[in-house]
Amino acid sequence: MTNTLKKRRAPKIPLMDLDAQYRAIQPEIDEAIQRVIKSSGFILGKEVEAFEHEFAAFVGSKHGVGVSSGTAALHLALLACGVRPGDEVITTPLTFIATAEAVRHAGALPVFVDVEQDSLCLDSSLIASAITPRTKGILVVHLHGNPAAMDAMLEAGGRYGLTVIEDAAQAHGAEYRGRRAGSLGAAGCFSFFPGKNLGAYGDAGAVVSNDRAITDTVGRLRDHGRRGKYEHEVEGFNHRMDAIQAAVLRVKLRHLEKWNRRRREIAARYRNGLRGVVACPQERRETVPAYHVFAVRTPRREELRAYLADQGVETGIHYPIPLHLQPALRFLKYEAGRFPAAEQAAQQLLSLPIHPDMTDEQVDRVIDRVRAFF
Ligand SMILES: Cc1ncc(COP(=O)(O)O)c(C=O)c1O
Repeated sequence: MTNTLKKRRAPKIPLMDLDAQYRAIQPEIDEAIQRVIKSSGFILGKEVEAFEHEFAAFVGSKHGVGVSSGTAALHLALLACGVRPGDEVITTPLTFIATAEAVRHAGALPVFVDVEQDSLCLDSSLIASAITPRTKGILVVHLHGNPAAMDAMLEAGGRYGLTVIEDAAQAHGAEYRGRRAGSLGAAGCFSFFPGKNLGAYGDAGAVVSNDRAITDTVGRLRDHGRRGKYEHEVEGFNHRMDAIQAAVLRVKLRHLEKWNRRRREIAARYRNGLRGVVACPQERRETVPAYHVFAVRTPRREELRAYLADQGVETGIHYPIPLHLQPALRFLKYEAGRFPAAEQAAQQLLSLPIHPDMTDEQVDRVIDRVRAFF
């Protein structure tokens, strides 16, 4: 067989494609970055303020504060909501470690409860059993961009006098009963890590809230506890947002609804094409997920992942080790088997490629390869 007759491999399908996204909006992005460079204002300032207003309006919250990362957003929101050393914060073990790290940064202890089998978010029916006299709040994570059952979380918060904070780092634009993730609790925390639905060109994050006192406190804490230029009212941090990130985010925010719609189309296509083949995330009536991640579920996860890699389809795992089993959190003394739903999900979830620039042809090729495996 000559070279020309050899079957050519189709190009790889990446989990996400930030280069394709940049190429689609390059003139707008380049202009925005140039504008900041020419202004010589690189940290906070007008660009960050404009983004804060625009992003809070997008989420449907009254106020927004730009910070340096999603982790910083969580840390400062917890402090602004009154979480102090010795307090306990109830949260999920099936999340990125920053959720628990932020609780530790505030000096408090994360107390895990298991997740729901279907939504993979914190199981509200288990909250009561985790409450102690030291419990201060509930840190809800909208995992994969799928909103948690916020009515039940807020009801539990109200009943036991706990502050409900949302980790919406994966849920920009996701909706719960017609309201956007991040606007439902006392504070909503967002990450703009580059791969997120709304991603910066570096680290960035934000806290939104309807409570001015919370965002004012976050605003002070992010900038060394400053009141004026030289007066430091409280001890704070350097958790400020860069103006270049704000400028990039302002451009991308204009495209976010369209990008999220495309993610939902892709999710629907996956669900259709994989019906009866592998377990896919299902939408509950009261939610509109943002599909930051589209994770199928199978006991043959490792085999499927290797097969897809061989077929040129990149996949991810969000997350393979639940937080209660992470070496860094061993001191919390949780044992394997304690949270069966989270542990099983950690062994079975496999994230398929999903990003707004994926073509139907690429989605169909992933579907075809998954079907071929099974
Ligand atoms: C659920 C969750 N919480 C918190 C974070 C932390 O955000 P960042 O990486 O911007 O600090 C992330 C993002 O990585 C996340 O996915």
